[in-house]
Amino acid sequence: MRLPIDRTPGCPFDPPAGLRDLPPMSRLEFADGHLGWLATTSAAARAVLGDQRFSARRELKHLPLHGMPADGPAAPGSFVSMDPPDHTRYRRLLTGQFTLRRMRLLEPRIERIAADHLDAMAQAGPPADLVTAYALPIPSLVICELLGVPYEDHDFFQERTGQLVTPDGDGAGAMKDLTAYMGDLVARKRKEPGDDLISGLTGELTDEELTNIAVILLVAGHETTANMLALGVFALLEHGTTHIGEEAVDELLRWLSILHLGAPSRAALEDVEVAGELVRKGETVALSLPVINRDQAVFDDPDALRLDRQDARRHLAFGYGVHQCLGQQLARAELRIGLRALFERLPGLRLAVPATEVPMKEDASVYGVRCLPVTWGAIG
Ligand code: HEM
Repeated sequence: MRLPIDRTPGCPFDPPAGLRDLPPMSRLEFADGHLGWLATTSAAARAVLGDQRFSARRELKHLPLHGMPADGPAAPGSFVSMDPPDHTRYRRLLTGQFTLRRMRLLEPRIERIAADHLDAMAQAGPPADLVTAYALPIPSLVICELLGVPYEDHDFFQERTGQLVTPDGDGAGAMKDLTAYMGDLVARKRKEPGDDLISGLTGELTDEELTNIAVILLVAGHETTANMLALGVFALLEHGTTHIGEEAVDELLRWLSILHLGAPSRAALEDVEVAGELVRKGETVALSLPVINRDQAVFDDPDALRLDRQDARRHLAFGYGVHQCLGQQLARAELRIGLRALFERLPGLRLAVPATEVPMKEDASVYGVRCLPVTWGAIG
C-alpha cells in the first residue's frame, strides 16, 4: 500500500478514507520503494515512539511520500534527528530555556502581536485572507521574541519565513537567507547577550550548533502553529462555535492532527515486535497521526469535535517519548490567545466563500488551508 492522502470531498477535517479501518500496523511502500510500516493506533504509536530500539536518525529513515533518505547524519545541534545520548544533551539544554517563566513572559507579547494584526485587519476592512493577515505573522513574530530578533529585523524575518511556507514561494532562497541571518544573530548575541533563548545558550554551545538550533525552532514552530491557527478557525466557523474554553485547543489539535503524511517516523535498530507484527531491523515505521488521534480505544466518539472533551490531552499531536514537542506550551498559548483575540475583536467573523471553495494543502507535509477568505461585521 502507498500512503493514502485523498480526503473525501466536503470532509476537509476527516482523515483520508483509505486510512480508516486499517490494522494497527500495515505494510507501507515508501517513496524510494522501501517496504516498511504504517502505525495507525495510539498503542502502536506509543510502542514505537517510546522505545529506544527505534531511531529518529534521518539517514536511517525512508520517507513515506516524496524523496530519498538523507545522505548523512544530522548537522551539529540538529537534535531532532539524533538519538540518546546525543539528543539528550541538547534536549536538556533546550528544556532549561523553555521555562515556565519565559513562556509566561511571552504571553503578553503574543497578545500584543495578535492585537496589532487585528487592528490592521479592522482598519483595512473586510474581506481578508486570514492566513497572510493573521495566522502566518503570529508564530513568525513569536519566534522573533523567543530568539531575541531585534525589532528592526522583524519585517525581513516575517517576509522570509512567509516565503518558506507559501506554495510556489522561494523556499530554498528563504531558508538560505534565514540560516545566514541566524548565524549573524548568534554572533551578535555572543557579543551582546540579552534575555533571550540564544543568549541563554551561548556559554554551552558553538556558533554552528546554535545557528542550527535556531533554524530548527523556526521550522518546527512556524508552519505547524500557522496551519493550526488557520485550520482551527475554519473548523470552528464550520461548527458554528467560537468559545475557546480550557480544553478547546487540545481538542482542535487532536481532531485536526495537521502532521498528516506519515510523520513522525522511526527506523528499527533491531528486530522489534509491535502490535503483534515483527518490524525487522532497518525498516521504517511511519505514523498516521490523524487516524491515531481518532482511536476509538482512547477517545469516546472520536470523530466528533467536542471542545469540552476532558481527555483531549491524550492525543499524540505533539508526539510522544523523548522527542515529544519541545514547543508545546508555547504552541498552546499562541493558539489559545490567537483564537480568543480573533473572535473577540472581529464579531460576526465568517467565511467569505463557500466552505467547499477553501483550497486545502492535501500534499504538503503540514496539512491546512492554502488561504482562508474571511469577512466580518453585520450580515448584509
Ligand atoms: C517536535 C508537533 C509547535 C518545536 C515535535 C513533534 C511533533 C510536533 C509531533 C515530534 C516529532 C518526532 O517525534 O519526530 C507540533 C505541533 C505544533 C508544534 C502540532 C503546533 C501546533 C512547535 C513550536 C515549537 C516546536 C511552537 C518551538 C518554537 C519543536 C521541537 C521539536 C518538536 C524543537 C523536536 C524535539 C526533539 O526532537 O526533542 N513537534 N509542534 N514545536 N517541536 Fe513541535
